[in-house]
Amino acid sequence: ASSRLVLGIETSCDETGAAVLDETGEILGESLHSQKDVHLRTGGIIPMVAQQLHREHIERVVQEALERSNVEPSQLSAVATTVKPGLSLSLGVGLEFSQRFVRQHNRPFIPIHHMEAHALTVRMLQPVAFPFLVLLVSGGHSLLAVARGVDDFLLLGHTLDEAPGDTLDKVARRLSLIKHPQCSTLSGGQAIELLAKDGDRTRFRFTTPMGQTYDCCFSFAGLRNQVTMAIVKKEAEEGIEQGTLLSCVNDIAAATQHTVASHLAKRTHRAILFCKANGLLPPSSPTLVVSGGVASNQYIRKALSLITEATGLQLLCPPPKFCTDNGVMIAWNGVERLREGKGILPPNVDVCYEPK
Ligand code: KG4
Ligand code: ZN
Repeated sequence: ASSRLVLGIETSCDETGAAVLDETGEILGESLHSQKDVHLRTGGIIPMVAQQLHREHIERVVQEALERSNVEPSQLSAVATTVKPGLSLSLGVGLEFSQRFVRQHNRPFIPIHHMEAHALTVRMLQPVAFPFLVLLVSGGHSLLAVARGVDDFLLLGHTLDEAPGDTLDKVARRLSLIKHPQCSTLSGGQAIELLAKDGDRTRFRFTTPMGQTYDCCFSFAGLRNQVTMAIVKKEAEEGIEQGTLLSCVNDIAAATQHTVASHLAKRTHRAILFCKANGLLPPSSPTLVVSGGVASNQYIRKALSLITEATGLQLLCPPPKFCTDNGVMIAWNGVERLREGKGILPPNVDVCYEPK
């Protein structure tokens, strides 16, 4: 029997991605255009710039994914596209393109929730049965949820202010890490991980957020404030201009990274205990899946592994390529939905994007 094929399209943030997968999760062809370099230079994502770059690249990216997989549009069983959450202007480009595409080629359309896609990606790589606990941490996301089925998630916690990657990016920008020779091409999180290796985390003490809040939510804005105050104090002590601190950048990086890791680990620990107390995870081989750009941080992974080891959970983290945004994860979510016949729309239905 010939396998059903799904084209996945992602434009929710700053990656234009497309991929064709067969029903088994084999990647037949993919293409990805990242805008990260551009946004690194402007000190953050400017939504209209992101929109313009998606517009410039989407046609080619989709074309490349189809050509590399040697698949004609008429052979596709469905087109799956991210419709939420994300930047409105970015989401709009992928959605408009996809709606035109499915009408032109008369293919079914599957609207995709970006976070659902992140959470399910691991199942493309290895068999992971529902339910499992998932921690998603990146520049735009931070949440803990129990994945109970393809379209069934129990949200345990989310960020009350900003996502951890966003915090690391902003601290890195405040320290002008982009000017450090080793860090010029790195994201904020990567720069902090690198510099922290030569730092002493005990030389700065930041309070782990929400120590007295008995839930599984996150907060990083207060930590960013603590770090900024410490930087301001040091700059004043040394009588230097903003963003020119050199003397203790490694220590600040190490302390910041440690506090982020500690917060993520403590919240995850709470979530695991809650799941156990309420029978939300299977007694045999319960699993924690961690994904998102921040999940590639080795120090944070180590902190999480201490928690999973202590509580008897298996820790799974897809390789970085699949932790960050791409068309593959969207196509895979399409495959999962196609298998279960969930959320598949005829080509002529008007779909809206939802930023939140
Ligand atoms: O998943 P991703 O590529 O894009 C979205 O945000 O959706 O994640 C990017 C975020 C950035 O904030 C970046 O600073 C952070 O992930 N990041 C890291 C590391 N690599 C990327 N944070 C900590 N340690 C890293 N090694
Ligand atoms: Zn994402």
